[in-house]
Amino acid sequence: MKTKLNYSSIADAAAECLAVVVLDHNADKGKDAKPKAKLAGDDKSLAKAADEALASGDVTAKALETMLIHAPQGMKAKRLLIIGGGKAAKFSADEMRRVAGTAARFAKGKNLKSVAIAVPDGTSVSAADAVRAIIEGAFVGDFDPNYYASDRKDQRLDEVDIIVPSSADKKAVEAAAEVGRAIGEAQNFARDLVNEPSNKMTPTIMGQRAKKMCAEVGLKCEVYGAEKLHELKMGSFWSVAQGSAEPPALIVMTYEPKGAPSSPVIGLVGKGVTFDTGGISIKPADGMEKMKYDMAGGATMMGAMRAIAMLKPKVKVIGIVCATENMPSGTAQKPGDVQIAMNGTAIEIINTDAEGRLILADGLCYARQLGATHLVDAATLTGACVVALGMVHAGIFSNSDEMVAQFQAAQKRAGERFWRLPLDEEYRDMIKSSIADIMNSGGRYGGAVTAAKFLEEFVDEKPWIHLDIAGVAWMEENKPWIAKGPSGMAVRSVVEFVQSF
Ligand code: BES
Ligand code: MN
Ligand code: ZN
Repeated sequence: MKTKLNYSSIADAAAECLAVVVLDHNADKGKDAKPKAKLAGDDKSLAKAADEALASGDVTAKALETMLIHAPQGMKAKRLLIIGGGKAAKFSADEMRRVAGTAARFAKGKNLKSVAIAVPDGTSVSAADAVRAIIEGAFVGDFDPNYYASDRKDQRLDEVDIIVPSSADKKAVEAAAEVGRAIGEAQNFARDLVNEPSNKMTPTIMGQRAKKMCAEVGLKCEVYGAEKLHELKMGSFWSVAQGSAEPPALIVMTYEPKGAPSSPVIGLVGKGVTFDTGGISIKPADGMEKMKYDMAGGATMMGAMRAIAMLKPKVKVIGIVCATENMPSGTAQKPGDVQIAMNGTAIEIINTDAEGRLILADGLCYARQLGATHLVDAATLTGACVVALGMVHAGIFSNSDEMVAQFQAAQKRAGERFWRLPLDEEYRDMIKSSIADIMNSGGRYGGAVTAAKFLEEFVDEKPWIHLDIAGVAWMEENKPWIAKGPSGMAVRSVVEFVQSF
């Protein structure tokens, strides 16, 4: 998808479809106040073209409401798409992103190949912030998951034009557009990986995709197999991989810009379970097909590394993805088995379905061995996190208040939602083993926390953040701005966080 900045007036924008934002200026006047829909900005010809529609009362400016006007009077665009941005006083880059996604999906639904989106003038969102949000949102909206439908046409948009007021700071707008592109592409890159079924996204294929991506954006990339796991004594990672006919892949991507300080070094570790059957502690058949998305944490880190390579922050970053299947077989590990992780920790396997923490344990140790001073992991780790937070917030766990504060500032800019959950010492008692150091499951209660507590054993008190994205990595239904399927959630926050160093 091409993105073009166009500094023409709204009336002069020659587009197949031009999307503009309408805002409700009465929403702050109480619940019963009638909506007062007003177009953002004071473009005279636009006001005239939309006059009747607004006067009719059909437009309430409710968030993501759409109204289409064909051949709008006095405008060059063939269609004018009015999209609700909600309450004027609350309009932010987040709403802008969703409006842009809605515009993209609307245009695709009409088989158009391009759409123009106007930066709304006169709101508290700067032109640069709006441009970035429009581009990110348009990329999000442009993605559809029906890869293998035999009648899938090439539905992707060819181009999005952003109509920017000529008064805007052009330099700031252009820089923002670059950031928006890098992040939008990275998010879709991650979604693309997650969308593939497990027979088309094996650990080996994931490794190949990492190699290809890294070559394209200039990152160093190594992909190792089972031998390396043995050499590094990754008994915990291997215990999951041993049950599968598909070989595991340990993916290591390195970004080291010239002039970066020797510290901090950020280690990004992702769970790449390309299919989670549960292993011998097998999952029920109902809904198991969804467990192809159990590599979303790994895809998040690959997408983040791609954006980081393009945005070039002045900090060293190591991206590690532990990719494997979790299968039951004659070679699979069994409940009761004891496994020794890379750092010597002895793990009693209670449930082979608690495999994500097993592979991340060694991934976190390895990130430290490679020099990471700060650790971030992302994983579709627990159903318990979905029970706790639903599909709205992802879970965030950390041993460092400072790092959480830094991440929370980043997630806000990225427009993503994470909710911090606790890590008190009492939860550690729940995973104490009588035969080994630690058990890989603490049972049903507090399952998201005991999983995080397990991971904490492997960070050696380095500042660390764990992101449990089980509830948010997959959209259960279509929304106006995003298709059902992989969401690419967490990519934007991780990139924003790395840039904040
Ligand atoms: N991949 C699952 C977690 C998951 C559940 C992701 C639902 C997405 C949606 C993970 O490997 C798992 O099976 N966790 C178990 C842990 C339990 C056995 C301690 C769980 O959450 O039930
Ligand atoms: Mn599992
Ligand atoms: Zn899993």
